[in-house]
Formats: sequence, structure tokens, C-alpha cells
Amino acid sequence: MSLHFTDLHLDKPLTDALLEAGYDTPTPVQLQTIPQALQGHDLMASAQTGSGKTAAFLLPTLQKLLQRSDKPGKGPRALVLTPTRELAQQVEKSAQVYGKNMPWLRTVTLVGGTSFGQQIRALGRPIDIIVATPGRLMDHMRQGRIDFSRLEVLILDEADRMLDMGFIDDIETIVAATPAERQTLLFSATWDGIVGKLAQRLTRDPQKIEVARMDDHGKIDEQLLYCDDLRHKNRLLDHILRDANIDQCVIFTATKVMSEQLADELYEKGFSASCLHGDMPQGWRNRTLMDLRKGRIKILVATDVAARGIDVPTISHVINYDLPKQAEDYVHRIGRTGRAGRHGLAITFAEVNEYVKVHKIERYLNRKLPEMAIEGMEPTRKRGGAKPAGKGRGRSFGGAGSGDKRKSGGYGGGKSHSAGGSKPFAGRSGDGARSHGDNRSGKGQGKPAAARKPSASRSR
Ligand SMILES: Nc1ncnc2c1ncn2[C@@H]1O[C@H](COP(=O)(O)OP(=O)(O)OP(=O)(O)O)[C@@H](O)[C@H]1O
Ligand SMILES: [Mg+2]
Repeated sequence: MSLHFTDLHLDKPLTDALLEAGYDTPTPVQLQTIPQALQGHDLMASAQTGSGKTAAFLLPTLQKLLQRSDKPGKGPRALVLTPTRELAQQVEKSAQVYGKNMPWLRTVTLVGGTSFGQQIRALGRPIDIIVATPGRLMDHMRQGRIDFSRLEVLILDEADRMLDMGFIDDIETIVAATPAERQTLLFSATWDGIVGKLAQRLTRDPQKIEVARMDDHGKIDEQLLYCDDLRHKNRLLDHILRDANIDQCVIFTATKVMSEQLADELYEKGFSASCLHGDMPQGWRNRTLMDLRKGRIKILVATDVAARGIDVPTISHVINYDLPKQAEDYVHRIGRTGRAGRHGLAITFAEVNEYVKVHKIERYLNRKLPEMAIEGMEPTRKRGGAKPAGKGRGRSFGGAGSGDKRKSGGYGGGKSHSAGGSKPFAGRSGDGARSHGDNRSGKGQGKPAAARKPSASRSR
């Protein structure tokens, strides 16, 4: 018998909101964290991408907020810190969804790149939840605008990422300003190194919850494609993007410049593409993400600013155009697809001389990435010292996406170098020969007219 949200002792306003949101049963991480958090424990939790961690920390927090505060003042009763602005905005939206039947609930997002005026006005009124990036919150704290005397719950989402981004001092300062008797809920992909030490300092007798390893990739099929050079990579990309089965796709590049350049090039070719990176004005960033959510853009070319936490269930494909700098980022990038119970496909390009970086990722994952090649587009250069990847250990595409669970994922004439069971997608072979002009007929193919031209219209 599966447990329902009503079994978790959440009050009706919350269980009703969850029902309306279409949530039937709690996910494993929610099952483990919610009862512990409701009992008032501090938490150190990690769970795989897309496993529902946001509700895991928001639901017990909202439950707490259903009881009136006995403390005077108008400061926030809960604070959520996130590494990126986009994630902060998304968490606030989730709080509004789960808190739908708490009409008095006031949430405020404090992130950089947006006007201070609006945020200052919002801070002038009583607040229940602040969701913030550390930098902008610190700006407001320095101006004496935040009163943490009522704070009951402190949450750090993607704590390891915040430390990677150099927020350690800001976080320490923020935490020092909060009451010692607060409840602290920490979510991080890892507790190794300084994030583990920070967690020890911030929590009291924390419950440690690890639901599944971060490399549990059940709903995401993966493919590794070797290429000779940039030209070859672009040919492969072009071929893949003409797959009519792509609903929406995030392409990760190593640099901001590359994300702009590639988005521009794809746009010129008629794809509905936009870029997202940290140097873009926040208004653009917001509109781009909204366009993606609304299906107005099909391809988002992004830096790792979009690698963590972003939840857009219609993203069917992730393409690592450039390999991630850190092996763990691979897991977070591919976690942008295969969300909300769907299946996704993650394709990683590697130039033949980048095999050492690939091996580093594979060592981190403790498994081989299934190596594929597209018929007629195989790499011609040899990679020194590399064993043929995927032999015996790699999960074949066909095996993972077996049955009719997910019909997408194949692109023309794909042929597996992995061991056994791969489907060659013969039915789609020859797609690569299509001319650029042919691509508009595909299902969900972007409408360039609706797409925002990314950097060009901004800078020119
Ligand atoms: N109990 C549930 N039933 C159905 N859908 C759910 C449930 N909990 C969460 N979801 C949905 O699952 C998706 C992923 O949730 P969420 O973004 O919280 O995951 P996450 O663990 O924070 O992922 P990431 O590690 O990428 O940040 C969201 O679309 C959310 O609405
Ligand atoms: Mg998350």
C-alpha cells in the first residue's frame, strides 16, 4: 500500500493544493524528509535530480507557517537560499503552488539583476517566506532591511553549488544573523569537503537522508558521441536537432560567449533558439526561461547557470555541446531532462582528444557512458590510448528505452557501439541528408518568428 500525502500529517490546505497540482503520492525523498522535518529535526538531505526536493522542504515549512507566529514583527519566518536567480524564482513559484490555499501567505524573492525598489517595498510589509540568492540578500541586510527575529526555518537548496560559487562568507554572515533556535534544512548533492563542514556548523543533531545516489539515472537515456573537431560537432548537432521527436532541448556550452554564438547560429538556421547565461540582464534571463516554459522556444543554449534545479518537464533532450568542467556537473546538466516522471535523452559530445575528460566523468559515475555513432558521420580521427568505450558495461540505448516507453531519442541511422540490444533506428536513417529547408515540418519544430533573437538584438 502506497502512502499518500494525507498520511504524512499535512493539513488540508496543503493536501488539497497537492491534489490540485496533480501530486498523488509523495516521492521517496518527500516520504523521508517530511515526517522528520515536521518533528522539528534539522536535515542534511541529498537525492537524485528531479526527485521532488523542493516540496520536501517547502511542505513541512508551509505546515509550520499554518500555525501563527508568537513572535512580534514582520520579518520572514522562513528563508530559502539558492545559488541562482532562476532557481530562487522557481522555488517561490512552487511555494505559491503548494501554499495556494493559504491566501495570506506572503513570499518574496530577492535576487540580483532586478530593481531594488520593488524588493524594498515588499520588505516593508510582513513576510512569511524569503527566497533569495546570497548576494542580493546581503545587500538588503547591509541596509538593515531584514529582521530575522521571527525566523523559524532556514533552508539551503543546492548548498554545494552555492559554495562552489564562492558564497561561503555570505552564507556564514546570513546564518549568523538568524536565531540559533531555528530549524535548518540543508540539501546538497554531496557532503564532501567544505559543504560537509559547513553543514556540521549550521545544524544541530541533523537527520541524514540519502535517498538514492546522484547517478541514479533511471529515466534518462544517455549517449556519448565522439567527434573529430568543431565542424564535425556542429554537423552532428545539426543532424540531431532535426529530430522531430525533440520537444524541447537544453544545449550546454562551456562559455557564455559560446552560448550566445551557438544560439545565434541556430536561430539563423531557423531553429527557435535562445541563450541563457549569467551576464545577460535579469529581465532577459527571466523572459528566456518563461519562453522555454511556455514552449515558445525549443532550444535553450545555456551555460551551467541552467544546470541546477531548473524544472521544465517538457525538456526532452539535453545536449552537452561542451563537456562539463567538473564531472559532477554532468549529473546536474542531464537532470534537466527526464523530469516529472518522463523519459529524457542526454547526448554528450566529446572531441576525440577529450577522452581523458570523458573517463573522468565515467569514473565519477562509476559506469561507462554508452558510446554511439551516427552512420555516415563517425569520427575519423583515432583517440590515443582509449579502449573502445561501452564494451560490456555500457548501457545500450535500446535496452534502456525499451518497449514503447519513449519513442524519441533516436536520430537518423544511429548505430550503437555499446554491447547488445541497441536499436539502430533504421526508420529514421537518412534524416541527416535533409536540407535545412526541410526541417519545419517536424512536430514541435520551432517557429523562428516567435523566438527571441538572443544576443544579437540586444547588443546590436
Ligand atoms: N509527489 C509528487 N508527485 C508528482 N510530481 C511531483 C511530486 N513532487 C514533485 N513533483 C514534480 O517533480 C518535478 C521535480 O521536482 P523538483 O524540482 O522539486 O526536483 P528536485 O529534486 O529539486 O530536482 P533538482 O535536483 O534537479 O533540483 C517537478 O515538476 C515537481 O512538480
Ligand atoms: Mg531542486
